[in-house]
Amino acid sequence: MTSFLVVSGSPSAVSKTALLGDLVASRLGEARHVRLRDLPPAALLAADASDPQVRDAVDAVAAADAVVLLTPIYKAGAAGLLKVFLDLLPQNGFEGKTVLPMALCRSMAHLLALDYGLHPVLQSMGSQRVLRSLVLLEEHLEIDPSGRAGLVPDGELRLLDVVAELRDGIVLSSARV
Ligand SMILES: Cc1cc2nc3c(=O)[nH]c(=O)nc-3n(C[C@H](O)[C@H](O)[C@H](O)COP(=O)(O)O)c2cc1C
Repeated sequence: MTSFLVVSGSPSAVSKTALLGDLVASRLGEARHVRLRDLPPAALLAADASDPQVRDAVDAVAAADAVVLLTPIYKAGAAGLLKVFLDLLPQNGFEGKTVLPMALCRSMAHLLALDYGLHPVLQSMGSQRVLRSLVLLEEHLEIDPSGRAGLVPDGELRLLDVVAELRDGIVLSSARV
């Protein structure tokens, strides 16, 4: 069975990005969602891949067929927490995997931030199928009083489009083997 993984890299204690990550995981059919903020900060910063929780997250990437990397846009780029985690992965850590870079931000000015900043890094890490990034604005996200996130219709359509593309990507790459 195809295995999907969502990795979110927001450092916020109350994180809209993490809520969006839960939503993405549910649209992928209850995929696992690894919140990097929950990993031990000292081990992450020291690139200590022997830490059990860090090891588990690294292994989850290795075991996945497709990975959604989700970050808030901070200072016109991906959050540092995501970069710290990427630095822990092997150089070819995305070989054979389809990767979808995804972000949440406030300004339309940064819609291309991941295509410029993250896409080439993911290619250099071995993925031959890095999908075009999906960047959603905070205004696409609706959070109900119980704290659950939903998307406005335009945001939902865009998410369902990339989820379909992600699934197609996996079919295509396994057909090539
Ligand atoms: C330190 C910081 C820097 C930010 N920089 C940008 C930015 O450059 N462009 C943008 O559109 N939004 C920026 N934002 C807004 C966040 O991308 C947005 O609020 C996002 O939803 C935050 O997700 P979070 O709740 O997971 O932290 C910034 C927010 C913070 C806290």
